[in-house]
Amino acid sequence: MNVPSASAVRLHVVTGKGGTGKTTVAAATAMSLAMQGQQVLLAEVEGRQGISQVLDTAPLGPTERALVQDPSGGTLHGLAVEAEPALLEYLHKFYKLGRAGSVLDKVGAIDFATTIAPGVRDVLLIGKVYEAVGRTTSGRRKRPVYDSVVLDAPPTGRIGRFLAVNEEVSQVARVGPIRNQADSITRVLQSAITRVHLVTLLEEMPVQETLDAVDELGDLSLRVGSVVANAVRPPLLTDGQAQALTRGGDAARDELVAALQLVDITTGPATVEGLLREGEEHALRSGLQREQLARLEGLAAPLVTLPHLPGGVEDGDLRQLAEAITEQGGL
Ligand SMILES: Nc1ncnc2c1ncn2[C@@H]1O[C@H](COP(=O)(O)OP(=O)(O)OP(=O)(O)O)[C@@H](O)[C@H]1O
Ligand SMILES: [Mg+2]
Repeated sequence: MNVPSASAVRLHVVTGKGGTGKTTVAAATAMSLAMQGQQVLLAEVEGRQGISQVLDTAPLGPTERALVQDPSGGTLHGLAVEAEPALLEYLHKFYKLGRAGSVLDKVGAIDFATTIAPGVRDVLLIGKVYEAVGRTTSGRRKRPVYDSVVLDAPPTGRIGRFLAVNEEVSQVARVGPIRNQADSITRVLQSAITRVHLVTLLEEMPVQETLDAVDELGDLSLRVGSVVANAVRPPLLTDGQAQALTRGGDAARDELVAALQLVDITTGPATVEGLLREGEEHALRSGLQREQLARLEGLAAPLVTLPHLPGGVEDGDLRQLAEAITEQGGL
């Protein structure tokens, strides 16, 4: 079994602009680790049921559940972290408040923690992830229950505040157990076992958000892991063909008509014009992709690219993305 060394990264936080593929990449990363024989926990914190959709399984709850058993011996577990059960678990653990949950609910403590103090809410959510990272087996030879934990995190617009639990909490708790909990979480988040990965499409806006996030994470003493360029379309044209198409004129048209004749396809001018327009769009998009890729290559973080899957991400496709991640050395 491929068990990570003591100094290896064990908490993978996956963020990125909304809709760029965070959940898909988080699931593929977790799958890649499970396919290498690891015990992996894949967790989400936004109550969106994104993971169960990507893995095509029943909705996840606040109790961990095995989702995929790999022939290598690895297992992928899923968890949807929710603030309220996390608070009850926390109170039970620290104050031995067994059945106090319902009482607290009546007096509004849960409302306080989940709505009035958003900083506390985030401590509860990430606190559950922190607990899973640090959990060990019982018995004499203790070892981590999970080799790796992958977090499908909030988007880049909110990731700084979400991970900066210390600063958020200091507004409501200067001392006491919540403060201590926030300090412990921050220590793990800033340690060498944690990496924050940034998912982006090769488009102007998400790439800009990625560059901004790298700066913000650095300011918070959080380590950036990989930058993932997701849904990259392979260029189908040579440079010469792309130039001919974007320049307009007859060269591209002549080449296209000749190529169509070669495979015995006779078409009218409308089809030829349509194909030329599509070709031009493809050439422009490829050029744009290349420009955005160059901006990402300027970063110190390793770049992982994942292909655009024309039919969207169906069931078996996740393994294909997982293999692509493994082949590039993992996140
Ligand atoms: N490599 C890919 N090729 C094709 N489609 C993809 C790829 N990656 C993701 N998608 C599709 O893009 C959509 C958005 O992906 P996903 O839900 O993972 O993004 P997200 O960043 O988690 O979104 P949100 O911000 O809403 O949580 C989904 O329909 C997904 O199937
Ligand atoms: Mg998502």
